[in-house]
Amino acid sequence: MLLAIISDIHSNLPALKAVLEEIDELGTEDIVCCGDTVGYNSFPEECFSTLKTRGIESVMGNHDYAALTGDTRGFNEHAAAAIEWTRKNFETKKLSSLPINMERDEVLFTHGSPRSIFEYVFPDSPVRFLESLMDDKREFIVLGHTHVPMRIETGRGTYINPGSVGQPRDGDPRSAFATLDTERRKTEFYRVEYDIDETAEHNRRAKLPEFLSERLYLGI
Ligand SMILES: [Fe+2]
Repeated sequence: MLLAIISDIHSNLPALKAVLEEIDELGTEDIVCCGDTVGYNSFPEECFSTLKTRGIESVMGNHDYAALTGDTRGFNEHAAAAIEWTRKNFETKKLSSLPINMERDEVLFTHGSPRSIFEYVFPDSPVRFLESLMDDKREFIVLGHTHVPMRIETGRGTYINPGSVGQPRDGDPRSAFATLDTERRKTEFYRVEYDIDETAEHNRRAKLPEFLSERLYLGI
C-alpha cells in the first residue's frame, strides 16, 4: 500500500491545504496523521474539520492532549499561550476521540514514541534506545513530535518521521510530509511551499505570540 504520512499540522491551514494538494497529485491510497492537529497557530477548527471531511485518521499528539485537558506542564510560554487560545476558540472535546496509537498491518502510528506521546525520538537517538521501544510485531513505527523528517533503520525495524506540515523545525520553512510504500519498503520525503504570510497574518489577528509567526519563516 502507498500511504501518505502527515504530522504536526498545528492549526496551519494554508500549509495543510498545500500538502493535501500535493498528495492528491501523487495518488496515494490513504493518508494518516501522526498527531498535533492543533496548537501554535490559529486555524484549529479548519484543520480538524479538513481531516474529518477527508476521512484522514489521526492519533493524539501532546498538543491535542494539552488542548483537550488544559494541562500544559512542560510547555514553553508561547506554546502554553497558544493552547490557552485554542481552548477559547475551538471545541476541544472533539479531540477526545483521537487514539494514542493506530495499527495498519505492519505499521504502528503514534505521536512521540511507542510508549508515550510526550517522548521524543530524534534522528540521533541511540539505536539501543530505539530498539528497546520496538516489539518485533511491526516493521515500521511512524511518528511525529520532533518536526524533523527522518528514517532510521534498526535491527528490529524502521522509524519514520515525515516532518511537520505546519511548523517545520529543520531550517527549511516549507511544509513537510512523506510517503511509505509498505510493499516495496520505500519512503519518500517531500517539501511544499505554502503561503506563510496568510498564516502569520491570521495568527496576528488572533493575537497569538508574535514569535509563533516569526518562526514559520525560519523553519525553527
Ligand atoms: Fe508538534
